[in-house]
Amino acid sequence: MHTPVWDAVDEFFDRTLVTPDAVFDDVLHRSEAAGLPAISVTASQGKLLALLAESIGARRALEIGTLGGFSAIWIARALAPGGRLVTIEAEPRHAVVARESFARAGVLDRIDLREGQALDVLPQLTDTKIDFTFIDADKPKTPAYLDWAIRLSRPGALIVIDNVVREGEIADAAKADASALAMRRVCEQAGQDARISATAVQTVGSKGYDGFLLARVR
Ligand code: SAH
Ligand code: DHB
Ligand code: MG
Repeated sequence: MHTPVWDAVDEFFDRTLVTPDAVFDDVLHRSEAAGLPAISVTASQGKLLALLAESIGARRALEIGTLGGFSAIWIARALAPGGRLVTIEAEPRHAVVARESFARAGVLDRIDLREGQALDVLPQLTDTKIDFTFIDADKPKTPAYLDWAIRLSRPGALIVIDNVVREGEIADAAKADASALAMRRVCEQAGQDARISATAVQTVGSKGYDGFLLARVR
């Protein structure tokens, strides 16, 4: 599902609201050249992540699913002085591109890129109290990632999950693939879990019809 008007509006928002920055163009160009899938967040979504992180004064951030580093740079730049983002990537080919992205963006000092399966890396992070988490990796494991993010968070932390709507699959009982089931489950989980307060918003744009789940840790 995609319409030209969604692209036009995203282009309009980019032009009016997002300061042009060659760093992000460079990340996307090198990602494409290296054959990475074009599934990063959009610029206005990246800026949304940055605004959210900034608004809670985040210093310790966590990202699950780095790809070429597009969203990670948005988050890292939004952190309070001395802040640090741990971003986890399972695919070595993606991590190579991301590391170069962080060097070029001048954020190597504030990003800790961990290569490996997220479920292997997350148990190593228990000494940190995370302020802001962005979950955007293999969708079937999202319920487990949400549980980890809550356990690693400080009270008042914010957790954002990408791709919960999946062109409406989340509410289509006929769709029963592992990703759709997991996103349905993660909403049910978020609605029931007394440790968090959560909502979700549908989005359209140049990356199609999708949505974010947002949760605040009590
Ligand atoms: N957040 C990025 C996009 C991430 S795409 C952005 O918006 O710019 C999803 C990424 O998750 C891919 O790079 C994929 O390799 C990675 N991934 C998939 N399974 C994973 C796992 N089990 N652990 C860590 N990363 C994983
Ligand atoms: C896919 C993954 C994403 O994180 C995304 O934003 C869009 C698509 C995918 O795996 O197809
Ligand atoms: Mg995503």
